[in-house]
Amino acid sequence: MQKLGILISGRGSNMEAILKTIKNKKMPIVPAVVISNTSNARGLKIAKKLGVQTEVITSKGFNGSRWDYDKKIITSLQKYGVTPKNGIICLAGFMRIISPQFIRKYRNRILNMHPALLPAFPGLNAQKQAIDYGAKYSGCTVHFLDDGVDTGPIIIQSIVKIHNDDTEETLARKILKQEHKIYPEAVRLLAEKKIRVYGRKIKTAN
Ligand code: GAR
Repeated sequence: MQKLGILISGRGSNMEAILKTIKNKKMPIVPAVVISNTSNARGLKIAKKLGVQTEVITSKGFNGSRWDYDKKIITSLQKYGVTPKNGIICLAGFMRIISPQFIRKYRNRILNMHPALLPAFPGLNAQKQAIDYGAKYSGCTVHFLDDGVDTGPIIIQSIVKIHNDDTEETLARKILKQEHKIYPEAVRLLAEKKIRVYGRKIKTAN
């Protein structure tokens, strides 16, 4: 059976949506571990409540290189069976940049959620970027992680309309609802091996 590892830093609502969907639907994957880089991430409590193992690997004050830190994450993932062959990793509000070595090791096995319609508004504060730009639509994107900032091959996107009176907060709320739908769906597609990657293009089956 394939093993899922989820990396979080905070609230963990995407993690929760993924874990609950796996519980309710039959998928060929089991949640193996939730790893946080901060000990006070709210998502840790949710994961425990849902019966999933948790680990904290504190990044604040860590003295080594980015790769040194990532090696600690990889060791933990492997301890729970989330291997490059058998594992899927979801970044779910994990507020750290992942080293190229980590990405290479788990090539096309690491998923990321971005709260905008990539390639628009990559990087931080994507919802604010969309509002400030005056965009009429935004949304969210699940993509494979690659070496760039939010540049990996796109798996699923969902669109949200921006109204005149939307603020960063109201837009973020609307986008989050969509995130909770498409992130579990992307995990299902990958777990069921329904994703084919052609360069930066992806074809999915149902
Ligand atoms: C989500 O909105 C996600 O799209 C965003 O952080 C939030 C995490 O919420 N991720 C990024 O901005 C990554 N660049 P959650 O902890 O409740 O899932």
